[in-house]
Amino acid sequence: MTLDQTLSIARTDIQAMLDTALAPFDGPVGDAMRHALSGGKRLRAVLALEAAALFDVPRERALRVGAAIESMHAYSLVHDDLPCMDDDNLRRGQPTVHRKWDEATAVLAGDALQTLAFELVAHPDTDPDPAVRADLTLTLAQASGAAGMVRGQALDIAAETAGAPLTLDHIVELQRLKTGRLLEWPCRAGALLGRADPEPLLDYAAKLGLAFQIADDLLDVEGDAAKVGKAVGKDADAGKATFVSHLGVEGARAEARQLIDQAELSLLPYSEKAATLLAVARYVVTRDR
Ligand code: IPE
Ligand code: IPE
Ligand code: MG
Ligand code: MG
Ligand code: MG
Repeated sequence: MTLDQTLSIARTDIQAMLDTALAPFDGPVGDAMRHALSGGKRLRAVLALEAAALFDVPRERALRVGAAIESMHAYSLVHDDLPCMDDDNLRRGQPTVHRKWDEATAVLAGDALQTLAFELVAHPDTDPDPAVRADLTLTLAQASGAAGMVRGQALDIAAETAGAPLTLDHIVELQRLKTGRLLEWPCRAGALLGRADPEPLLDYAAKLGLAFQIADDLLDVEGDAAKVGKAVGKDADAGKATFVSHLGVEGARAEARQLIDQAELSLLPYSEKAATLLAVARYVVTRDR
């Protein structure tokens, strides 16, 4: 199967899981949650599915974890786009939630997407063992919260008002938290569901996360807003220090390629079973959206 086919099947299956999970929610907040969850590459869900598949975890369980991380990710984007954060009008080629509804609805829809993520993970259908569900819930909270993604967002905002541009080391640390932790968790979750050692997968996720952010920075410079589905050119306009501002376009691209080579080495213990995870890593740095 090609990566495109694998991604397309995963997207359909994840959407079905999300549709079921969202069905009870009505009114503007429910509609805004559905809007925020539509579209998207579903990269984090695919990581969950493929990590779990390494250990022959039943797909239904991995789909719940994949839907959960997409819900958490969607919450982070709804809040990231708010006027008090990045003030963006376009997300996934659609108006942002606060533009289509209003700010209060966007705050509440984000809140509810976050709690939905925990609901999906903590439900007995995710794993029969309550200890595994507790581990999934705890690690998801740690990845998302004030020492994880939220901390990365706070560092990002602080950097905007700081006098001097961030050093490369600071950027790496910020991105490890801001985007890295939500890319790492689905890999960890696959190992938890599979009762397996997560270390090689966490290694892979660390390389993938940085490469992913370098690609995001490159898209901000070279991407086409219509394809990317969000505003481009914002980093340069804001005078933001990024991988590209430090390394240049060619340097950033070379760094991303090197990270993918390292990610490939991390997957060696899984041999052929990790073929899709490797393809995902390559896709992450060549994507145009
Ligand atoms: C966008 O993530 C936000 C960042 C962390 C840079 P994605 O590029 O994975 O966004 P979607 O889910 O496909 O919209
Ligand atoms: C957002 O980072 C990451 C999170 C929401 C945690 P960015 O602000 O760089 O993402 P985009 O470029 O708006 O997608
Ligand atoms: Mg932001
Ligand atoms: Mg943003
Ligand atoms: Mg960005």
